[in-house]
Amino acid sequence: MFEARDIKTEDKAEFYRELAQQLEALLHGEPDPIANAANTAALLFQTMPELNWAGFYLMRDGELVLGPFQGRPACVRIAVGAGVCGAAVARRASVLVEDVHAFPGHIACDAASRSELVVPLIAAGEVIGVIDLDSPSRARFDEADQSGIERVAAIYLAACAQAPAPVLARAS
Ligand code: SME
Repeated sequence: MFEARDIKTEDKAEFYRELAQQLEALLHGEPDPIANAANTAALLFQTMPELNWAGFYLMRDGELVLGPFQGRPACVRIAVGAGVCGAAVARRASVLVEDVHAFPGHIACDAASRSELVVPLIAAGEVIGVIDLDSPSRARFDEADQSGIERVAAIYLAACAQAPAPVLARAS
């Protein structure tokens, strides 16, 4: 059984090294994108300090639709270009927001949110969704968090790209 360990370090590089190791173990051998998103969101929410929301939005017919997450119930559909999540899709790049009140078009799902980090999921050149993190603290996220979560996105995508589990391959 996988048991997520709390990560006790002030050093962000070390934090993300340990987070990456735990995530690789958690997703190992499982290609299902929804199961993997659910476990990734749970691991992020458990291990990262000062978060009030951690989760996925997934592209469905040209718009972002709410996926697995931890935190308060959130808005379901976000158009490409709208809010921080839609901006990350339009730019095909991570968006780091120190103060969401200063971000034009920010979509407030939880009035407590003050800062946000959104990382796009890009597979075979297509944006297939985003990972979204919210914090009640101003400027909670910096470049170290951005590169750490970009690594999380890469681990998630690599796990989902794995060949089907042998039991499914045998059945087909
Ligand atoms: N704040 C996001 C919306 C999603 S919630 O934070 C969960 C945005 O502006 O796109």
